[in-house]
Amino acid sequence: MENNKFNRRDFLIKGAKTIAIGALALSSFDILKLVASSKDSEYEPCSASKVINLSEFPSLLNNGGYAMITNNVIVIRKSSSKFIALKTICPHKECDVDYNGDGFECPCHGSAFDKNGIVTEGPSVKNLKSYKVTYSSDDNTLTINM
Ligand code: FES
Repeated sequence: MENNKFNRRDFLIKGAKTIAIGALALSSFDILKLVASSKDSEYEPCSASKVINLSEFPSLLNNGGYAMITNNVIVIRKSSSKFIALKTICPHKECDVDYNGDGFECPCHGSAFDKNGIVTEGPSVKNLKSYKVTYSSDDNTLTINM
C-alpha cells in the first residue's frame, strides 16, 4: 500500500516534469520561429522601384493625363517633365478612393483630397501617400519609388 502511494506520487511528479519540459520545448520552438522570421525580414528591402515606359501608358502623354500603374497607385502628369504618384487608398480606414480628374473622393466616409493628394475634407486627417517619381526623357520612362 505504501509502495502504491509512492508510485502514484512519483508518477504525478514525473508527469508534471514531462508537461513542463514539453511546454518549454514548444515555447522555445515558437521563439526560434520568431527569431528566424525577424532575420528574414531584416534583409527585405523596405521599398522598391517600379519603372514604366510612357509609351505603354498613352494617357500619360498629355499634361493632366493619369493612369493606374498598379491596383492602388495612380500616376498623374503635371507638366512636360513633372509627374506625381499617389496611393489610392484612403488613410482614414483604407477604402479605395476615386479620382475624378480634379481630386479624389473616398466613397466610405466622405474624405476628399485635391489632385495632389492633400486632404481637403475629413474624416481623414492625413494626405494620400505619395511616392517619389523620376522622369527620364532619354528613354521616356518613369521610376516610381514605392
Ligand atoms: S475610409 Fe475614407 S473616409 Fe473613411
